[in-house]
Amino acid sequence: MSSKKLSGEVFYPSEETINKAHIKDWEALDKQAKKDYPGFWEKMAEELHWFHKWDKVIDDSNKPFYKWFTGAKTNIVYNCLDAHVKTFRRNKLALIWEGENGESKTYSYFALHRETCKFSNILKSLGVQKGDRVTIYMGRTPEIIIAMLACARIGAVHSVVYGGFSVESLAERIEDSNSKVLIVADGAYQRGKIVELKKIADEALQRCGTVEHVLVIKRTGQEVNMEQGRDMWYHELMNLPIATQNCALEIVDAEDPLFILYTSGTTGKPKAILHTHGGYMVGTHTTLKYVFDIHEEDRYWCAADPGWITGHSYIVYGPLLNGTTSFLYEGAPNYPYPNRWWAMIEKYGINILYTAPTAIRGLMRFGEAWVNRHNLSSLRILGSVGEPINPEAWKWYNRVIGKDKCPIMDTWWQTETGMFMIAPMPSVPLKPGSGTRPFPGIEMDVVDEKGKSVKPNEEGFLIIKTPWPAMIRNVWNDPERYKQYWSKYPGVYMTGDSARKDEDGYFWIIGRVDDVIKVSGYRLGTAEIESALVSHYSVAEAAAIGLPHEVKGNAIYTYVILKSGIEKSPQLIEELRQHVSHEVGPIAKPEHIEFVDSLPKTRSGKIMRRLLKAKALGQDPGNISTLED
Ligand code: PRX
Repeated sequence: MSSKKLSGEVFYPSEETINKAHIKDWEALDKQAKKDYPGFWEKMAEELHWFHKWDKVIDDSNKPFYKWFTGAKTNIVYNCLDAHVKTFRRNKLALIWEGENGESKTYSYFALHRETCKFSNILKSLGVQKGDRVTIYMGRTPEIIIAMLACARIGAVHSVVYGGFSVESLAERIEDSNSKVLIVADGAYQRGKIVELKKIADEALQRCGTVEHVLVIKRTGQEVNMEQGRDMWYHELMNLPIATQNCALEIVDAEDPLFILYTSGTTGKPKAILHTHGGYMVGTHTTLKYVFDIHEEDRYWCAADPGWITGHSYIVYGPLLNGTTSFLYEGAPNYPYPNRWWAMIEKYGINILYTAPTAIRGLMRFGEAWVNRHNLSSLRILGSVGEPINPEAWKWYNRVIGKDKCPIMDTWWQTETGMFMIAPMPSVPLKPGSGTRPFPGIEMDVVDEKGKSVKPNEEGFLIIKTPWPAMIRNVWNDPERYKQYWSKYPGVYMTGDSARKDEDGYFWIIGRVDDVIKVSGYRLGTAEIESALVSHYSVAEAAAIGLPHEVKGNAIYTYVILKSGIEKSPQLIEELRQHVSHEVGPIAKPEHIEFVDSLPKTRSGKIMRRLLKAKALGQDPGNISTLED
């Protein structure tokens, strides 16, 4: 570790933490990676099994469509399951699951391999082939992981839609991906109530016409509509003789698609981010291993949802690649009581907890007594993701949960990056609110409008200067949209975030610079909320912005122009909020709806959300020369 004195408030790792860490000297590793980053990633790739090694680590002959490990043959599922089943990990727990209602299940690597193979065989029997897209829509139960792995095993491309999305969001994602198979649960438990996923799916399927087979997992058990010839029960299929526990793995090219995952952008519809088998495997394996310092005996819990990138990379693929034991919990953090999480950490002896600032702030509100009923001494490392963590929440997490002995890994990354980009390792000195520095082998900077590095502590655009293995490969069906990431400065990836870098080279994320709102760590586009509002019969025009919120980070505020003749009323406000919830999902429900007569626009007709925000916050609106009137 460098002996340089760091500025500001710094938390240094303990001797014990450093002694245990895989990487004791971050600076040395970083220096080595800087000299030859393809060489660094090549070394990392060698830790995994390949059916055939690559000809080239990076192929940049068609920028910005980079390729990694070209010529290599693999399948991520081999390294997630088959490789472990051949070792002592065969009988190690891969997954411990607890339902919101207290039920629990465990899967060894052998069992997860068996269930995956069985389901792969079912998919194959329904005609699913390499390259076909399969949409998955369910809550946090083991079957979501089995479904993802079963697709990947046969080379099909999964498209998971978060269970908190609703009718229109699901319909447009099924349609855009052209999925012929939908895997859905009858329902999901959330705070003791049932979210009727199958019912939402039925309504979505009326709006899109691609799906031929619907495979339904029984979770909540209420009566659901089963359409003859289209809908089949998962548990019945898994008992058929064709569901044998051996299923040949499809050997794919490193660059073959693994999954698409929809995320919100600045404008228009959500875009499907494409990730591939080889590079994504190397990126998630390496980053999880070193940032969360995974050891054989660990029990690791990423409390995100598998339906978001955090779940894909760090509930499903990263942990399985590392052969670790993961914990998955179905329900809400404070159900039935605010000690639920702490009780499960104690019960299962969790060593690593990875969550989002919004969850920490939410649980903080219930007070320390709920935490202190439990013995959390198993915890060794904590993590944070999804939005900037305010120093107050960081310190509470550190003191009350980590008992001042668990380093907090604040990881900055995106759906597009696939893997941690800015993140510490346990042996790195921490500053509350900073993710420290880019992971070795990653080059990032903060630049001004012209693309020049800004001075220390000045705000600018956060950019990525070199390709990385788990990088987005394309936007499904829309390569032009992919090129936009690289269009502002040649050869440079724009993250859409603003940040500053301090005198020690530590990065501090400020927030999005585009029309993306992070609500409770969820990524939503203003366009999605606005188009849901406008789809209501009463609304002529709408604008959405994010305003600071104590627990959620940001809350959605909307401004609505009603069609002429429509009466303003509190009932209509509630109806509109419910409408957005029904169309996009409860996560998009506006906190506040205000009826207005006009919206500030540029002369070219774009809504100036910046002005709405300044007005709501009572701030100076800045330059308004482009305002129409
Ligand atoms: O604004 C940054 C914020 O989340 C955005 C990416 O959102 P998404 O694709 O949904 O992925 C979230 C989980 C990886 C980023 O552009 N963000 C993510 N992590 C952090 C963060 N902001 C501050 N600190 C973080 N650790």
